[in-house]
Amino acid sequence: MSGHGQSYRAAALAAIGGFLFGYDIGVMGSAMAMDNFKSYFDKPDAFMRGFIVAMLTLGCFLGSLIAAPMTDRLSRKRSIMIAAFVFTVGGALQCAAWARWVLILGRVIAGLGIGVLSMAVPLFQSEIAPKQLRGRLISFQQLSITIGIAVSFWIDYGFLHLGDTTASWRVPLGLQIAPALLLGFGITSMPESPRWLVDNDRDDEAIAVLAKLRANGDKTDAAVLAEYQEIKDAVMFDRRTALRSYRELFRPVLRRRTWLGIGIQAMQQLTGINVIMYYAPYIFLQAGLGSVSSTLLAQGINGVVNMGMTIPAILYVDRWGRRPTLLSGSLIMGLAYLVIGAVMGATGTPVTLDDGTAAMNISSEAAKYTCIVFVYVFVGGFAYSWGPVGWIYPAEIYPLRVRSKATSFTTASNWLFNFVIAQVAPIVMQAITWKFYLIFMAFNWLSLLVVWYFYPETKGRSLEEMDKVFGAPSA
Ligand code: BGC
Repeated sequence: MSGHGQSYRAAALAAIGGFLFGYDIGVMGSAMAMDNFKSYFDKPDAFMRGFIVAMLTLGCFLGSLIAAPMTDRLSRKRSIMIAAFVFTVGGALQCAAWARWVLILGRVIAGLGIGVLSMAVPLFQSEIAPKQLRGRLISFQQLSITIGIAVSFWIDYGFLHLGDTTASWRVPLGLQIAPALLLGFGITSMPESPRWLVDNDRDDEAIAVLAKLRANGDKTDAAVLAEYQEIKDAVMFDRRTALRSYRELFRPVLRRRTWLGIGIQAMQQLTGINVIMYYAPYIFLQAGLGSVSSTLLAQGINGVVNMGMTIPAILYVDRWGRRPTLLSGSLIMGLAYLVIGAVMGATGTPVTLDDGTAAMNISSEAAKYTCIVFVYVFVGGFAYSWGPVGWIYPAEIYPLRVRSKATSFTTASNWLFNFVIAQVAPIVMQAITWKFYLIFMAFNWLSLLVVWYFYPETKGRSLEEMDKVFGAPSA
């Protein structure tokens, strides 16, 4: 397996895109809670705070749609490079923001970069990966997302202690520029996707890349030539038979896969993960954890659980398979929400806090900690399953001719649902407190049924074999 070091390196470097994704998601929540931030930006109200958070996801949504023509025309690698530099501009504007509009513009621009990266990175990873390691290499992106989130939680927490200075939020916002530059420059020294090369009639380069990735540069290696041939056959088949337009995605051969990809990304968001990632301090408050410092600490631990529990996915997802991973994840997450909702409902009494927040007053310590522990059970349940597989599955099921278009749709679906949940969750949570968790219990168990009935296993199959898995004629 000596040749695979190259694939690992390329996948890991590209995964810095995931770090930026996670960091920018995580950094804003606590930054906005800082006194200096509030006074500097003229005390943004609840609507404005939601707007500042949401503008990133909106940028991401647009970015993931631009990503299709970009990754096809400019190549996977160059798109990652450009997106990293766009992100840098967005990060710099957020860091230097002297008015609300600059901050918001910075969020949208950074979002455009992240939107492209969130589609291009798993695409690139899936196309350079040997099939038996594909799930693992795409999981690198998810691990980086979780590292980004955790690091941003702790950095915010640390800089909070700087006190009343703009540095307390400018530095956390500015720090993200460093990894973006590392990605932008670093990716230039990585190989291009061999599949993109073949699709652009650059076969010699494709063979050279495959040889480098798989066989220490030996272009005569039998496995390298076999893989090249498999890709070439698929490309030639596509050219003879298939269209490459967006419409192709909704023709009978691909329609099912298009909906499966859009569906898995929507269901990933409907697990309710970002209810926890964006609003956990608020949930801990609802669970009766009183002080701000203890809720922030609980949030920090949350980030660590999320990160730690992604590691089993990296190690085992190619062995367990996608289906068992998703099914068990849904079961655990649904169960966790059931426990949280039931314990809060049974032991809490509704109260209104000083700032108008509706919360549950849970007097029993045991009940309180049960809720908090089950938030962690939920996050752990997500981190090894729907977190990574939500990104792996769409990156592997489409034929090359439409892969970028399809994954740009599926990624846009993720960001759209992310946006909606970020907007709606606080309002609904406020209105129905503990029953809120039962809604997400239902979503999780519904996803379990949907995966059980509709999603075929894809582990260990080459990208070119997917037509067979989904019963398409080329098989
Ligand atoms: C999701 C994000 C989420 C993160 C949490 C990702 O897979 O797409 O929306 O915030 O996981 O780790």
